[in-house]
Amino acid sequence: MAIPLFGFHLLFLLSFFASSPNAASASGFHLPSFKSAPVFPRNHANGPPNHKSYRYETRYFSQVLDHFSFKNLSTFQQRYLISVEHWSGPSRPIFFYCGNEGDIEWFAENTGFVWEIAPRFGAMVIFAEHRYYGKSMPYGSKDAAYESADSLSHLTAEQALADFAVLLTDLKQNLSAENSPVVLFGGSYGGMLAAWMRLKYPHIAIGALASSAPILQFENIVPYETFYDIVSNGFKRESVECFNAIKQSWNEIDDQGQTANGLTYLSNLFRLCRKLDSPQELSDWLSSAYSYLAMVNYPYPSAFMMPLPAHPIKEVCTKIDNQPNGTSNLERIFAGVSIYYNYTGEVDCFDLSDDPHGMDGWNWQACTEMVMPMSSSRENSMFPTYGFDYASYEEGCLQSYGVRPRPRWITTEFGGHNLSTTLKMFGSNIIFSNGLLDPWSGGSVLQDVSESVVALVTEEGAHHIDLRAATNGDPDWLIEQRESEIDLVEDWIENYYQQKAALFDM
Ligand SMILES: *[C@@H]1O[C@H](CO)[C@@H](O)[C@H](O)[C@H]1NC(C)=O
Ligand SMILES: *[C@@H]1O[C@H](CO)[C@@H](O)[C@H](O)[C@H]1NC(C)=O
Ligand SMILES: *[C@@H]1O[C@H](CO)[C@@H](O)[C@H](O)[C@H]1NC(C)=O
Ligand SMILES: *[C@@H]1O[C@H](CO)[C@@H](O)[C@H](O)[C@H]1NC(C)=O
Ligand SMILES: *[C@@H]1O[C@H](CO)[C@@H](O)[C@H](O)[C@H]1NC(C)=O
Repeated sequence: MAIPLFGFHLLFLLSFFASSPNAASASGFHLPSFKSAPVFPRNHANGPPNHKSYRYETRYFSQVLDHFSFKNLSTFQQRYLISVEHWSGPSRPIFFYCGNEGDIEWFAENTGFVWEIAPRFGAMVIFAEHRYYGKSMPYGSKDAAYESADSLSHLTAEQALADFAVLLTDLKQNLSAENSPVVLFGGSYGGMLAAWMRLKYPHIAIGALASSAPILQFENIVPYETFYDIVSNGFKRESVECFNAIKQSWNEIDDQGQTANGLTYLSNLFRLCRKLDSPQELSDWLSSAYSYLAMVNYPYPSAFMMPLPAHPIKEVCTKIDNQPNGTSNLERIFAGVSIYYNYTGEVDCFDLSDDPHGMDGWNWQACTEMVMPMSSSRENSMFPTYGFDYASYEEGCLQSYGVRPRPRWITTEFGGHNLSTTLKMFGSNIIFSNGLLDPWSGGSVLQDVSESVVALVTEEGAHHIDLRAATNGDPDWLIEQRESEIDLVEDWIENYYQQKAALFDM
C-alpha cells in the first residue's frame, strides 16, 4: 500500500476529519492510506513506466462481477501479468502476487524478490490486478466504476479474493497445471490478501508470504496510537530536536492559517502551486510525507514516487536541525520536507492534490470494510493530538459515498481477535514479515504462531522491503531475512510434493 503525492487519495478523508468538532482535528488529521513503495518518478505519473525491468505477458480474463450472487451475470476484464519463462512445466510451482490497491504493473516493478527467486524454483510468475484498480475496471471505465455506491458495491476484499481463486483455477486448467503448488505473495494490503487467501482457500494455495500486512489493525485489536507512535519514534530516534520541531509546527501552521495573509504566507513559504484554502491542507500534506517517509525509510537510495536518499528520515532531520541560526521553525520544516517532495530538485511548485497512482479506491474500501482506527497521542506522537472518533468517521463516509462502514466485518469474515490461537489450531504455511520501522508493523503479526505460521521481524526494516529487488546496498539482516523466506517456501513446496507422492503410492 503506498505514495505523494499522496495527500491525494486521502482527499475526502481530510475533509471530514477537518470538519470534526474535535479541536485537535482542526489541525487536520487524516487516516493514512496504504501505499506501496512507488517506483515511478513523478514525471511518469500520467502514463505507464516507459521501461519494463521484468519480462511478462499481459492478459485479460473475463471475471464475474459478483461472485456471491447468481442474479446478475455482468462481467469485467481483469488484467493479469504472466511469465512462464522460468517455469519448468506442469506440476512446477506457481508464484502468485495478490494485487493490491493500484496499478498491477507498478506492483510488479516493485516486487523484484518474486521475479528474482522464480528461476531457482522453476516457477511461473503471475501478478493479478485487484478489481477497480489499474485497468481492471468494471462497467468499462473508471468513471463508470466509481460513479456511485451502487457501481462501487463490488469493490471488496472478498470479491478480490474470489477473483484470484477463479483466475488460478481457470489458468491451471488451461495450462494443465492442476498439480502445481501455488505460493501467494503480497505486500501491505496485498499481504493481507495473501494471508487471508491462504486461510480461505487452502485448497488453492499451499502458503503465503504476507509482507507488512496489518491484519490486526482493526477494531481494538492493537492500540489506536501504534501507527503514529511508530512514525514519530522513527523521527525521534534520529533527533529529539527534529521531533520537537515537527511537533511544534502544527500550532504555528494553525495560527498562521487563521488569516488570509497568513494563508498567503504559508502558501509562499511552502512554494505551493495555488493558495491554501485552509491550514489543514498543509498539515495533511506534511503528515502524509512523514508517514510515507517512515514507510520507505530504507537503508539504500530508492525511488518512491521520486527518488529518495538512503535513510531518508535521517536526511530530513539533518535538514531540519542544521539550518542557519535565525531560521524560523516553519522554514526548517519546509527544508526538511523538501527532501521528500523535491529530492530531484525538479519540482517547480507543490501541488497538494496530486493523485498519480489513481489509488482513490482505497477511500471507498476504508468507508466500507477497511476501518482501521488510528489516534495520535499527546505524549508519544509528533502529530497533532487526535482521538479516533467513529461517529465522525461514519459521518464522513455517509457524506462522501452514502454508505455506513461495517467496522466489525473484517474480523467476522477473516478473524483477528485472538488470531494466534486460531492460527495455531487451524492455520499453516504463512510468513508474516515486518520491519519495525514500518508504521504498519504495529498492526501486523510480530510473533511466531506455530512452526509454520512464522513472523520474520527485522529491527531496521521498513515497508515490505523484503519484497523489493535485491540491491548492492542490502544489509546482512535483509539478505538473511530473504534467505529465511526462500527456505520456508522451499519447505512448503517439498512437503507438498512429498505428500502428493505419498498419496499416489497408496
Ligand atoms: C447487472 O447490474 C448492472 C448494474 O447494476 C446493470 O447495469 C446490468 O444491466 C445488470 N446485468 C444483468 C444481466 O442484469
Ligand atoms: C483459459 O482459456 C479460455 C479459452 O481460450 C480463455 O477464454 C480464458 O481467458 C483462459 N483463462 C485464463 C485465466 O487466461
Ligand atoms: C548558532 O548560535 C549558537 C549560539 O549562539 C552557536 O553556538 C552556534 O554555533 C550557531 N550555529 C550556527 C549554525 O551558526
Ligand atoms: C526544488 O529544488 C530545486 C533545487 O534545489 C529548487 O531550485 C526548487 O525551487 C525547488 N522547488 C520547490 C517547489 O521548492
Ligand atoms: C484466546 O483463546 C484462548 C483459547 O481458547 C483463551 O484461553 C483466551 O482467553 C482467548 N483470549 C481472548 C482475549 O479471547
